Amino acid sequence: MSIKPYVLTETEYVNQEELTYPFEERGLQFGDGVYEVIRVYHGEYYLIEEHVERLFRSAAAIKLEVPYTKEDMYKRLEQLLQLNAFTGDGKVYLQITRGSAPRDHAFPKGVGANLYAYVSDVQRKLDLMKDGISTITEPDVRWDLCYIKSLNLLPNVMAKQTATEQNCFEAVLHKDGKVTECSSSNVYLVKDGAIYTHPATKNILHGCVRMRIEAFAKEAGIPFHEEAFHLDDMNEADELFLTSSTAEVMPIVNVDGKAVANGTPGNITRLMQQAYEKDAGIPENASIFADCTENKSVS
Ligand code: PDD
Repeated sequence: MSIKPYVLTETEYVNQEELTYPFEERGLQFGDGVYEVIRVYHGEYYLIEEHVERLFRSAAAIKLEVPYTKEDMYKRLEQLLQLNAFTGDGKVYLQITRGSAPRDHAFPKGVGANLYAYVSDVQRKLDLMKDGISTITEPDVRWDLCYIKSLNLLPNVMAKQTATEQNCFEAVLHKDGKVTECSSSNVYLVKDGAIYTHPATKNILHGCVRMRIEAFAKEAGIPFHEEAFHLDDMNEADELFLTSSTAEVMPIVNVDGKAVANGTPGNITRLMQQAYEKDAGIPENASIFADCTENKSVS
């Protein structure tokens, strides 16, 4: 099977050799790959072990061989920051695909993985973390293996776009009314002093920040229940919040146009934000609580 020279693109016909991207690429054509988004604060990785472990778990789950050992991966990722003299707040996006090969659904033989990772600036969303964000609810139409951080994100993209069109930050996903997670974050409900979130089954991504929330809750003596809650429960919630490597701990103050409790971030959410900042080594002058006295009342 050979590809003929002229390729139609969105604007013109070009010789395939002139195309600037490998068009017969498994990630591009099948979403056949896995990825990670790793947070960096002041030029240092946050939760790097958790992300690398999850990357290898995701790769193993799709029978994809990672081109580096874990030890090499840590070294290379450190070097990436050093080479870029990156000392700020940012994120590293890393993806591995099953490589470049003639399009055929079955795995290509003798083809190595393609990997790239790059670092970019990310400013912390301080105003949103202070005031809270609005969400919509959407059916979770994804597959059964959402614990794999795969490149197949179309349902997530569609849900996030629906939220964006309604001026909302996120879409809370549910399967027949049972809340799983959000389009790119994990979600939690607080009721009577306890935190509830969907168990870490195959139906959700096992968030690296989610693991820390469980630890923060334990340290603070707050019961942490891995029990799925329902859409109806959100009407009665004392607090709701979501977490991700880019959103950190984000209060949810509105769902489908209805205020959560009194419509302002609650105390347990604030405690989790404080614990996160401490864990991530955020300096006091950069804290969400820097210019308010609110933290004093919840510490
Ligand atoms: N998303 N659930 C989904 C579906 C996600 O895509 C993410 C992260 C999370 C939170 O995972 P973590 O705490 O490890 O960041 C939960 C990343 C940020 C992204 O795709 O951009």
